[in-house]
Amino acid sequence: MVNQLSRSIVLIGMMGAGKSSVGRCLHRRTGLALRDTDEIVAASFGMPISEIFPKFGEQRFRQAETDALRSLPTTERAIIVTGGGIVVRNENIEILKRLGVIVWLDGDEEMLFARASRKRNRPLLQTKNPRKCFSEILGVRRPLYANIADVQVDTSLLTDEEVAVAILVKLGRMNPKLESPIPATAL
Ligand code: S3P
Repeated sequence: MVNQLSRSIVLIGMMGAGKSSVGRCLHRRTGLALRDTDEIVAASFGMPISEIFPKFGEQRFRQAETDALRSLPTTERAIIVTGGGIVVRNENIEILKRLGVIVWLDGDEEMLFARASRKRNRPLLQTKNPRKCFSEILGVRRPLYANIADVQVDTSLLTDEEVAVAILVKLGRMNPKLESPIPATAL
């Protein structure tokens, strides 16, 4: 078995799960590079995600998201933050698995929605009934997240730092016999 702490950490989960913030905490704690598929896509279009959806449509965004995943080197150890919809394309799943250990940030639905709607920049929630829409999307995606996750963390009652520590502890425990390359002070 591969020591999970010697691999890249790939964060997946619904909008509002805290992937970007937790990614930054993990980056600070481990010193690993931070990669974010949403940032790569936004840079490739030269505009924020909130403008890409209305201008080019979701399919163009999804293709750019797959291209962004493909552009990540499998040889680099990194913290990889993904967009909430990364699991909807089958071809992304194999790429994600090759990239590293997959950590699913989940949580209570109400809490996820409250966090996701705090910033008004999520294109998929620009509908008449964002709450209903969120629930439908989550219903479709939860089994997809569950299917590919190596580790799941319930973020409902935790701060971003606590989630980061929970991840490092869980990954370390997946093979306690091997020495962790991440210093104990990072935990
Ligand atoms: C999306 C989530 C967003 C972003 C885009 C689509 C989704 O990322 O990729 O708006 O389909 O759930 P976050 O999960 O960081 O909000």
